[in-house]
Amino acid sequence: MFSLVYKSVLATNLSSESLNNMLQKARLFNREKSITGCLLHHKGEIIQLIEGDETEVKSLFKKIQKDKRHEKIIVLNTEENLFRMFGKWSMIYTNINANNTLTYQEKRELFNTIYHSSDVSCVPGISKLALWKEANLILSS
Ligand SMILES: Cc1cc2nc3c(=O)[nH]c(=O)nc-3n(C[C@H](O)[C@H](O)[C@H](O)COP(=O)(O)O)c2cc1C
Repeated sequence: MFSLVYKSVLATNLSSESLNNMLQKARLFNREKSITGCLLHHKGEIIQLIEGDETEVKSLFKKIQKDKRHEKIIVLNTEENLFRMFGKWSMIYTNINANNTLTYQEKRELFNTIYHSSDVSCVPGISKLALWKEANLILSS
């Protein structure tokens, strides 16, 4: 199971409606290709984890990199895992904003930790894996 995590910044003129439309299409595509993952959004900053077959993930990421709806795309981590972390979701989306009152603090901290965590690493990072497991837990609650 191959996973790729990147961060980016959304185009400033991107409406939440366009983002939702994009996500609907993305989920259909991902389901078809057995790709799962998680998209965190905090004030225009994005972190996405995509997992699945390595060829499929890399080919999807090539398209995502060319997408004009975001910029400043930086790969944070790629790794081979035994299991899917987001197996239940073709692409779970969370906008971490103050309206998500219950776990807002937790989610914001998590987002900041991952977003500002170390540079590109192709070596499996145990701490990063732990972070995503935590994200998985928080997003499920
Ligand atoms: C932040 C962000 C995340 C995206 N995530 C996915 C995704 O998980 N799956 C997907 O099929 N498209 C995703 N897309 C859309 C792709 O960039 C692209 O538009 C889509 O794969 C269709 O590409 P095509 O028109 O070249 O076939 C995402 C776009 C953005 C801006």
